[in-house]
Amino acid sequence: MNRIITLDEFIIHRQKDFPYASGELTGLLRDIGVAAKIVNREVNKAGLVNILGVEGAANASGDEVQKLDMYANDKLIDCLKNSGECCGIASEELEDFIEIPHVGSKDAKYVVLFDPLDGSSNIDVNVSVGTIFAIYRRKSDPKNPCDLNDFLQKGTDLVAAGYVIYGTSTIMVYSTGRGVNGFTLDPSIGEFCLSHRDIKIPDRGDYYSVNQGYYLKFDVEMRRYIDYCSDLNLRLRYIGSMVSDVHRILFQGGIFLYPNTRKYPQGKLRLLYECNPLAFIVEQAGGKGINTRLERIMEVEPKELHERSTIVIGSPDMVEEMQNFIQRYSVPSINAM
Ligand code: AHG
Ligand code: MN
Ligand code: MN
Repeated sequence: MNRIITLDEFIIHRQKDFPYASGELTGLLRDIGVAAKIVNREVNKAGLVNILGVEGAANASGDEVQKLDMYANDKLIDCLKNSGECCGIASEELEDFIEIPHVGSKDAKYVVLFDPLDGSSNIDVNVSVGTIFAIYRRKSDPKNPCDLNDFLQKGTDLVAAGYVIYGTSTIMVYSTGRGVNGFTLDPSIGEFCLSHRDIKIPDRGDYYSVNQGYYLKFDVEMRRYIDYCSDLNLRLRYIGSMVSDVHRILFQGGIFLYPNTRKYPQGKLRLLYECNPLAFIVEQAGGKGINTRLERIMEVEPKELHERSTIVIGSPDMVEEMQNFIQRYSVPSINAM
């Protein structure tokens, strides 16, 4: 039998590969792993909410039942606060970033950004959701409080990123820029165990993932590309949780698209909490992530915390093919003429 390698063991073992190998990043990743276990426990009992009490009401133990996105948000913050490695947090659920006070005499060098629960509309119907996280080194002086520029960094500046998917099993996938590894939670021992070593995305795959219900609201090049996927008999899969859709593509190959629509002219997904961390993972696995302006997602200079972006991400050959459709069929906007 192969020896089990736990997430903690793996992180510590890899610490020496890291340029600033002082253990701080190791601590942060472990904190995120702990938060993920707590969120996992709560996600798993979400179906019991009607028994335990509806949102906003008191549950059997007298605690108020919280919306699961906020629960996940608060647990991540609690776990990241304790170790003293993180000086600031930005979350999809919070309008502004929060400063984390010093723990003892430690100078915290990192900021963490996350989407605490991605695909949260799936919760009520027992379908996969996830947590996405991104870690940057702060730019400001560690003696001072963190500031907005610590968070407005490009994806190319990421030190680590990853996600946790609460699906048929719970899996954490992360990268520190040296490949991508996946860990499955073994509930019997309460540990994430190395299950997917050095993940590589296939060059192409049979899946495309897009909200085809918006077909008529997409630009012409997008409609042509979707027709092309359909002509090729590719399989359409769309969960409504980007992390779950990208997870399938990472293993089986394919393409995920969320372009601009009339409702979301800049795209719907958030550059800092969703697009950059997942683009980092996909690129580390050998894939590509661009926006519909054909910029590499990770090179976009963020201007605001909740900036939205269009995204085309997945198997490298398929993203390149989509790029050709954009070049060939896009109609210049009236303003640009
Ligand atoms: P969140 O639950 O964090 O708000 O994210 C949902 C996102 C993303 O995960 C998913 O791919 C997309 O929204 C679904 O949007 P549509 O319902 O517009 O397709
Ligand atoms: Mn999300
Ligand atoms: Mn969310």
